[in-house]
Amino acid sequence: MLLERAYAKVNLSLDVLGERPDGYHEVDMVLQSVDLSDAVWLAAEPGDSIRIESSSTQMPLDERNLAYQAARAFLGHAEVRRAVTIGIEKRIPIAAGLGGGSADAAAVLRGLNRLLGTGFTPAELAEIGASVGSDVPFCVYNGCAVATGRGERLQRVHHDLRVWAVLLRPPVFVSTADVYRAVGEPRPRPVPSSSQVVQALQAADFDALCAAVQNDLRDVAEALYPEIAAHAERMETIACQRVYMSGSGPTLFALAPTQAKAQRIYNGLRGFMKEVYLCRFV
Ligand code: C5P
Repeated sequence: MLLERAYAKVNLSLDVLGERPDGYHEVDMVLQSVDLSDAVWLAAEPGDSIRIESSSTQMPLDERNLAYQAARAFLGHAEVRRAVTIGIEKRIPIAAGLGGGSADAAAVLRGLNRLLGTGFTPAELAEIGASVGSDVPFCVYNGCAVATGRGERLQRVHHDLRVWAVLLRPPVFVSTADVYRAVGEPRPRPVPSSSQVVQALQAADFDALCAAVQNDLRDVAEALYPEIAAHAERMETIACQRVYMSGSGPTLFALAPTQAKAQRIYNGLRGFMKEVYLCRFV
C-alpha cells in the first residue's frame, strides 16, 4: 500500500488561441498547484483488474473516472498485469475547474511507477497522462508551469513568491466541453497573458501578479451559468478585492500576500458560503 498526494491547481492565466482540427482548443495558460489535496492510496497484487474505492458519492468509480483510465493506460504502457486497487480520499471539489480528476490520475501514474518499480521518467508519465486528460501532464509534476497545445505541452516556471489563495466553489455544475464550445473568436493580444504572469511571479511582485491574472473562459462560463457571476460579485464585496475564475469554472479564487489576509477573507466568506477553502501555492 502506498500513498500519493494529488494537488489541486488554479489557472493564473488562460488564453484561448483558437480551435484545433481535433476539436480541442489551442491554449496558453499558467497553471499553479495549491496545497488542497486528495490522498490516493494504491495497492497491487497478482491478477488483472482495476478497482476504485472512495467515500465520495459524487464521482463515478468505474472507467469514467480519470484515475481508472490512468491505471489502465499505465498498465498497458508498462505491459504488466496486476489487480490494482485505488483508494481516493477526496478533498478537492469535483468538476470545479481545479483539476481534481487530473490530479488523481497523475497520482495513480506516479504511484504505480513507484509501486511496480517500472522506472518511467516524469516525462514518460506525462506522456501517458496526456492520453487521459489535458491537465494530467501538469499534475505529474505540480508546481508552476506554462502549458500550451491543448494544455499538455509544459514549460516549468520556478519562482519563490509566497501566495495564499481562498477558493470558493459555487454550487453550479459546469461542463468543460460546453464552455469551450461557446468560446468565440480569439481575442487579439500582442503579448500572451502567461508572459505577464510569469514575469510577475519571477519578480516576486504580488501586485503585478494580481494585475496579470486573466481567464478567457470566464465571460463564457458566466454567460452560460449566471450563478458564477452572482457569486463572483458577492465574493468581491466580501473580500474587498478582485476575484478570478479557475479553468472552465465554476471555482472562484482570491489571492493574498499573507496568511493573515487570506484568513480574514476566508472567515468573511465562510459566514455566507459553504464550500470555501484556504490554501497556499506549492
Ligand atoms: O482534456 P479534457 O478531457 O480535460 O477536456 C475536456 C473537454 O474540454 C474536451 O473534450 C474539449 O471539449 C474541451 N477542451 C478543449 N480544449 C482544451 C482542453 C479541453 O476544447 N485545450
